[in-house]
Amino acid sequence: MKDNPQIRTAQPADLDDIAELAGSKDRALVRLQAAGRGEDSMLVAVASGVLLGTTSIRWADGCDPPHPWLYGLAVAEHARGQGIGRSLVRAAEAAAAARSAAAMSLDTDVDALSTVAFYQHLGYRMICGHEHRWRSLDPRTGAVTATGTAPTWIMRKWLAPQQHHLHNPVGEG
Ligand SMILES: CC(C)(COP(=O)(O)OP(=O)(O)OC[C@H]1O[C@@H](n2cnc3c(N)ncnc32)[C@H](O)[C@@H]1OP(=O)(O)O)[C@@H](O)C(=O)NCCC(=O)NCCS
Repeated sequence: MKDNPQIRTAQPADLDDIAELAGSKDRALVRLQAAGRGEDSMLVAVASGVLLGTTSIRWADGCDPPHPWLYGLAVAEHARGQGIGRSLVRAAEAAAAARSAAAMSLDTDVDALSTVAFYQHLGYRMICGHEHRWRSLDPRTGAVTATGTAPTWIMRKWLAPQQHHLHNPVGEG
């Protein structure tokens, strides 16, 4: 029987597994590098040594400043519907609350109705339309290799203030 997934901070050795979830090794590496610089935190869900999901949190310059921005959430297809996506979002929210963030924000493609429904189910509310400016980086040089914009919805959830620091699942703060 598989263990319950544990949520932990992503490590450089997770690169290949994250690449599968992110759809590109360069994208996974850029996210790990941002986490290594402290611009992001990156979480993974692992059960029985198998990486089943990931998400990143950008601490500044997200889509809805000054709130941290949740992005890159993905759960392996065979592991969906078991609560892993929710556990990752909850752990990201706990990390944000531990940094005294008032809210967590994210954006979804305007036509990603299923994703919107998922986040609504987890307590996020649609705030407004947004013109998301994306850019691709070469992880070896840091050079911008492509840029563009995409219409998205900003979604936001207000976080309860931290009452105590007894449990800190991802070692933040
Ligand atoms: C969206 C995604 C992360 C959900 O992960 P998951 O592990 O399957 O979700 P969970 O099992 O944690 O679901 C938690 C709850 O949300 C509900 N839920 C899941 N997907 C849903 C959807 N599309 N619409 C409405 N509710 C949904 C589940 O039924 C569950 O509800 P419960 O309260 O009855 O238990 C996963 O489907 C995925 O990786 N999709 C592809 C990538 C993606 O779309 N990422 C998000 C945008 S960046």
